[in-house]
Amino acid sequence: MNICVIGAGPVGLVTSACLASIGHKIICTDDDREKINLLMSGKVPFYEPGLQELVTKEMGEKKLDFTDSLEVAIKNSLVVFVAVGTPTQPEGDADLSFVENVCCGIAGAMKEYKVIVEKSTVPVKTGERISHTLETNNVNRVDFDVASNPEFLREGNAISDFMHPDRIVLGVASKRAEDILKEVYAPINAPILVTDIKSAELIKHASNSFLALKISYINAVSVICELVGADVEKVAEGLGLDKRIVKDFLNPGVGYGGSCFPKDISAFIRMADDAGYDFELLKTASAINQRQRAFFIKKIKDALWTLKGKTVGVLGLSFKPNTDDIREAPSIYIIRELQSEGVKIRSYDPAAMENAGKVLEDVTFCNDPYELSSGCDALAIVTEWEEFRKLDLQRLKALMKAPVIIDGRNIFEPSELKKAGFRYSSIGR
Ligand code: UGA
Repeated sequence: MNICVIGAGPVGLVTSACLASIGHKIICTDDDREKINLLMSGKVPFYEPGLQELVTKEMGEKKLDFTDSLEVAIKNSLVVFVAVGTPTQPEGDADLSFVENVCCGIAGAMKEYKVIVEKSTVPVKTGERISHTLETNNVNRVDFDVASNPEFLREGNAISDFMHPDRIVLGVASKRAEDILKEVYAPINAPILVTDIKSAELIKHASNSFLALKISYINAVSVICELVGADVEKVAEGLGLDKRIVKDFLNPGVGYGGSCFPKDISAFIRMADDAGYDFELLKTASAINQRQRAFFIKKIKDALWTLKGKTVGVLGLSFKPNTDDIREAPSIYIIRELQSEGVKIRSYDPAAMENAGKVLEDVTFCNDPYELSSGCDALAIVTEWEEFRKLDLQRLKALMKAPVIIDGRNIFEPSELKKAGFRYSSIGR
């Protein structure tokens, strides 16, 4: 099927490459000409495991193409996925101006029937707005359908999440759109849930918020564990063995970050407010998330006694492993707080140093964890990259000024670190 994807960000590009790999002919467009030029030359402008290889392969097989022209992109496409950004505005609601602009462009360029699919995470009732905008600007009086097909792609895992999803949600208002979208996803083996458009929009917000609730819940439990002398890892294991709870998203840490959870939760709170419901539960989850970062900083203070003039080595900058994304990353907040108290920061991250360098000042970025450790009064583990689990602890210890590790992701066993001669603190144990 000929499909167009508007937006070449993480969601749009993964969607494009994966749809091409299941047999469709994809044309992807973006109004960022520099990005499109880069993609036309075969280069993916951000890090997502496996994506560069997939884009190269599908471009080589002529199933994936890029253009900077919206008209060209939608001309022969039966389905148009809208995957443009929906950034948070100061009040917490999503800025939908990119979605609106794109819809005006689609409406002006449509010459025959199309299904326009919201892929971006948008507030409930956006589908109605999109329909209205398309109708108002539908100069050629063309028949169209609007649909919602929320994405559930985790950064760092996006290709696998696309190819092997837990479910595919299709929010549609006509049988015609339903049949077309079922055909799009026919090669993927997953349950398909067909709903009305508003319910599909809500499923995305409700899913992300629920996962964030789980994280804040276990983080709150981790604080109680410390207060009473229990081990949060064991408590989480015990919870997770209950089939009704499951273990995923019960890892305690320095709190959730990224471009999705913080933004989507603010938007859901705002959306609920507008609809007349005070979503106190989510407000509290969000406050717990902020507090968790503060707890971590307090642990660093407790370990170092005074902060002024001390050097802390921050291991991990991305908001989670396997991505170079630092949006809403706990690391940024933690580093700035420590700097404000006179701490010198050294840092290492396998992928996110270039991005972090654009927003942080006075940080010494290092080539590896050992270079980082040199002269450090303490190491703070903020992101659980796999390579950190395999560190040569004796080598680290020899390089550091003092053998102190504050582990914000519980990647080590306390007994082993103690045996290796470290003063070690972690989350909730
Ligand atoms: C999230 C959802 O998991 C995806 O399903 C969704 O499609 C995506 O948002 C989106 O809305 O586009 P993502 O933000 O890439 O994906 O990352 P997650 O793996 O969900 O992690 C989010 C944050 O929670 C990270 O900072 C991570 O470190 C933190 N986290 C996660 C924990 O602190 N503990 C956990 O147990 C799990």
